[in-house]
Amino acid sequence: MALKWWQKAVFYQIYPRSFADANGDGIGDFQGMINHLDYLKSLGIDALWLSPHFPSPFIDCGYDVSDYVDVAPELGTLDDFKRFLAEAHQRDIRVILDLVLNHSSDQHAWFSESRSSCDNPKRDWYVWEDGVDGGPPNNWMSYFGGSAWEYDSTTDQYYYHCFLTEQPDLNWRNPEVKQAMWDAVRFWLDMGVDGFRLDAIGTIFEDPDMPDHTSKYSQFELYKAFRMAKTKEDREEYIPHWEAMFHHQVEQPGVHELMQELRTIIDEYDDRLLVGESEEIEYYGDGDNELHLAFNFPLMRTARLTPAWIRANQEERLSELPPGAWPCNTLNNHDTTRVYTQFGDGKNDAALARLSLALMLTLRGTPFLYNGEEIGMTDYMLDDIGQFWDTPAIWLYNLAVNEVDASEALRLAAKASRDRCRTPVQWANSANGGFSPPEVKTWLPVNPNYAEGVNVAEQLDAPDSLLNFYKEMLHMRKRTPALIAGAYEPLHDDAEDYLAFLRRSAEQSCLVALNFSEQPHNIRFELETSAGRVIFSNQERENEIDFKRLNLAPYEILIVELI
Ligand code: NOJ
Repeated sequence: MALKWWQKAVFYQIYPRSFADANGDGIGDFQGMINHLDYLKSLGIDALWLSPHFPSPFIDCGYDVSDYVDVAPELGTLDDFKRFLAEAHQRDIRVILDLVLNHSSDQHAWFSESRSSCDNPKRDWYVWEDGVDGGPPNNWMSYFGGSAWEYDSTTDQYYYHCFLTEQPDLNWRNPEVKQAMWDAVRFWLDMGVDGFRLDAIGTIFEDPDMPDHTSKYSQFELYKAFRMAKTKEDREEYIPHWEAMFHHQVEQPGVHELMQELRTIIDEYDDRLLVGESEEIEYYGDGDNELHLAFNFPLMRTARLTPAWIRANQEERLSELPPGAWPCNTLNNHDTTRVYTQFGDGKNDAALARLSLALMLTLRGTPFLYNGEEIGMTDYMLDDIGQFWDTPAIWLYNLAVNEVDASEALRLAAKASRDRCRTPVQWANSANGGFSPPEVKTWLPVNPNYAEGVNVAEQLDAPDSLLNFYKEMLHMRKRTPALIAGAYEPLHDDAEDYLAFLRRSAEQSCLVALNFSEQPHNIRFELETSAGRVIFSNQERENEIDFKRLNLAPYEILIVELI
């Protein structure tokens, strides 16, 4: 069966505020994105996912939407958006948007109406409850810290917010909420967007009986335990308590029916896509009636990408997928540590970054990359609490300063803060990394390592740069049908240092060998042939090789077509 565009595509996530600032106000914008579409095209990506571009008071950095059918003024106008979409489409680049369903901003007109009185027609658009014994309705916590309930004196009731206080949860059991959101969905689909990444779908419904959670730890204790855990085992001990804390607030009945309903809307349009911000396989439905993709987040939850880790992940993930479902892999996004920081070892970072990309582009499934990873942008630890935008990190800091000394509190907060991976893209080796004019204060500081080669302009000119490596691999993938369509067959299950697998499609079979170690490896393959054509290697190699015995160089990335 012919593959859909999103099965063949490599996605690239743009965090709009940090991508490119065209009007020199220190904030990225649509004109900046338009200016760099040719760059993205030549990089070799096929589709963009934009983090929220809607009007927002920006308390959760855009994930607090105050109008679902408009554009944040700091990013441009609706016309700018339309121009951007048209220009992207002209270059054959698809665009999906971020749809935040679970909650709106407390500044959304819907919420202003809802909170105004108990008999307002929109009262039931959000989740309102009476308090109990002078306190909140129950002991549920917000994912971002503190109680999940906020008292509102206007009506003497509490509203529920799974995330920030400024992000009241919408009541999806109210059909009017659905209707309003589906109208917004149609608004963008009618304009021609190619689909949506669905934010926080797991928390759309909560247990209507609202029983207390039973975790015996406080949320701060859990945060601290996670952040300070020395070993994986130390960390794992706390996971059940974290799960118990949110047990009644996630993955509740009704969510799959809702996603299926959304799918029927999407299917009224040609060829659109839904990607869930969830790793739960259940969101694939029967393989063709719910979401098209759900991220393989477990793959990135490790300090080191070892062959054993990757093999185990693939074995589990691929075997769980329902027939017809398509995998979706990623190693970083706007909520996580950047790939270069997370999987580097401080010594072989450049080689490991290349291996991470090779992994994304050779595993079966649709890869999602994150802006800046192509030049090896790293996390940037803020050292002044006044620079932080990420509200949960500020919350953590305020709590931590009462328990540990201020510098330790800052360190904890900087590490937890998602600001670390959202700093502006570094376009050049000039003040502000070429993101904004030199005299401008950018919304988040630019990582000073733009002056150490971590910038687009210099890397474009350096044949051996990470950026040119990305380009080369991305273009190679387009020409290699087995890497796009092929089944995944693991080889050498016990190899500790290298990962070897086949990708076999009707047209082509490829052997992929990725050496994650600084040791060379002499390996043997018993396949139907030992003759191969080298499709890609980061070492000097003959065009045709016999891989019955193969000497894999340290950190080698080798892709061979079986002939
Ligand atoms: C997931 C988003 O990726 C994250 O950035 C956001 O803070 C939460 N959902 C809440 O919307």
